[in-house]
Amino acid sequence: MCGIVGILGNGAAAPRLVEALKRLEYRGYDSAGVATLERGELKRVRAEGKLRNLETRLADHPLHGAIGIGHTRWATHGRPTENNAHPHASDRLAVVHNGIIENFRTLREELAAKGYRFATETDSEIAAFLVTDELAAGKSPADAVYASLRRMRGAFALVYLFEGEDNLLIGARQGAPLAVGQGDGEMFLGSDALALAPFTDRVAYLEEGDWAIVTREGAEFRDADNNVVQRRFVKTPAGGLLAEKGNYRHFMAKEIHEQPEVIGHTVAHYVDMGAQRLKPFDWPVDPKSLNRVSIVACGTAHVAGLVGKYWIERFARLPVEVDVASEYRYREPPVDKDGLTIFVSQSGETADTLASLRYVKDNGARSVAVVNVATSSIARLADAVAPTLAGPEIGVASTKAFTCQLVAMAALALGLGRARGVLSEADETRLVGELAATPGLVAETLKLEPAVEKIAQKLSTARDVLYLGRGTAYPLALEGALKLKELSYIHAEGYAAGELKHGPIALIDAAMPVIVLGPRDPVFEKTISNMQEVSARGGRIFLIGDAHAAEEAAVTLESFLPMPDMASTFAPIVYAIPVQMLAYHTAVIMGKDADQPRNLAKSVTVE
Ligand code: F6R
Repeated sequence: MCGIVGILGNGAAAPRLVEALKRLEYRGYDSAGVATLERGELKRVRAEGKLRNLETRLADHPLHGAIGIGHTRWATHGRPTENNAHPHASDRLAVVHNGIIENFRTLREELAAKGYRFATETDSEIAAFLVTDELAAGKSPADAVYASLRRMRGAFALVYLFEGEDNLLIGARQGAPLAVGQGDGEMFLGSDALALAPFTDRVAYLEEGDWAIVTREGAEFRDADNNVVQRRFVKTPAGGLLAEKGNYRHFMAKEIHEQPEVIGHTVAHYVDMGAQRLKPFDWPVDPKSLNRVSIVACGTAHVAGLVGKYWIERFARLPVEVDVASEYRYREPPVDKDGLTIFVSQSGETADTLASLRYVKDNGARSVAVVNVATSSIARLADAVAPTLAGPEIGVASTKAFTCQLVAMAALALGLGRARGVLSEADETRLVGELAATPGLVAETLKLEPAVEKIAQKLSTARDVLYLGRGTAYPLALEGALKLKELSYIHAEGYAAGELKHGPIALIDAAMPVIVLGPRDPVFEKTISNMQEVSARGGRIFLIGDAHAAEEAAVTLESFLPMPDMASTFAPIVYAIPVQMLAYHTAVIMGKDADQPRNLAKSVTVE
């Protein structure tokens, strides 16, 4: 899940390549590099680590060519060294690659036997040498790329730059996204429209298996069978958006604070505020005929699915199964043709989620995608889209996209409940009112930030942390542990509070913080019993609950975060806020990079 970009421009390409790469750094930041043509000759500059290292290199060794390609890497094959950084090159071309070439070993052996000398540990170098070999056999650049594409297996996107060809870039998509941008006498390629936003808002997306021959005059799109195909350039909303931190220290902080607004937008998309009713949703199947619902996603989006399960089961009385996509896609689960599968994804490009959606489609069943990027592969492939209106999320850890996913899941659950006659009109109005109250409650909760920082101070010295919750607070406990792990690198576990006594209670001692998520809901009393079990064993309890929760718990608390009073149904949308702030501040106190945690990438387009 690297970020790739190509520019056929009129001025120096390198500074613009770097500008685009800044917008793609969310896809990986292990190394970065650019290549341009100067008087027809290939020139490369690459650097290990974040993009700023490449910028320093470029300041010392500027590149002047008007055509070029760039790359920001999330390492899969080979360590994140400068030598393994893209673009990879032969004496004939340079290439940037996002994804995995699965049959690289066989191809590498074949090419090595022909005398090609590999300089890197990557699978990507195959993509350079395969095309070089076809060129050596006398093929044109386009024919050479096409012949090579037919030999590479896996999920990837590529952009090629050829020595001596200063009006040609060739891009290809097979399982990883690629967009072509049209400017004024200039053309662009990039992993997404956001990368191209500084240059153009007119973008066409390659379909699965497509490849494109791009010159300054335009793009010729071809499909996997080499037929010329039409791919429409559309005006993309990403064109107006600038990825800026504003006054915040990190994108993550900004995105946490944007939540009242974006949750409000998402609620307004699904709810007619005046009428206090749901807006109609175009279901791809008749909700009345459903027997069950499946939800498939990864990471934090999977957590949103787990919360959705509680809501759909409660409001629509439908059994729901929730799967992580990497398991679902290979388990070959039986697919009910009359069923409905909901796919949840911020990026809409997550490889495992996309593959699971394809599996469901191939089995003739219907799908709804809860996605944030409206132009993404998942959004385009699903039968219906339930959008989250979080706006671009740049911080690697999902925050505002998650709470907007929860809103979309709530709206879908309520919609199913109404359509199936489980919820009455009065229920709908009451629940819609509760959902519409969440942006205000989130705004109120954000004021607790100084108190959260104090708790984070304590967490920052812990080796392990346990998060507990019941009901919809259970998935939120999983989310709390996930966020803390990925941002601070402190080991954390999320548990169903009632499950504690079946094993993890053995971990309780005076060292490990136990964070209890205790909204006032019908199972809060049970959570109190679980807190007492922890307290009896000398555990350190940090309670997040409403104003009276501490009193009612009647246990010694190391810390208490008083949340606003609220109806419990949609409490996960509000309780997500302290969970996110806690992980963020712990990471910042520990000096970790909250926007770009180690080893991670925002968009996971490899499996
Ligand atoms: C964690 C996080 C990841 C993503 C996961 C799925 O903070 O952001 O776990 O939720 O990689 O990504 P999307 O939602 O883009 O499919």
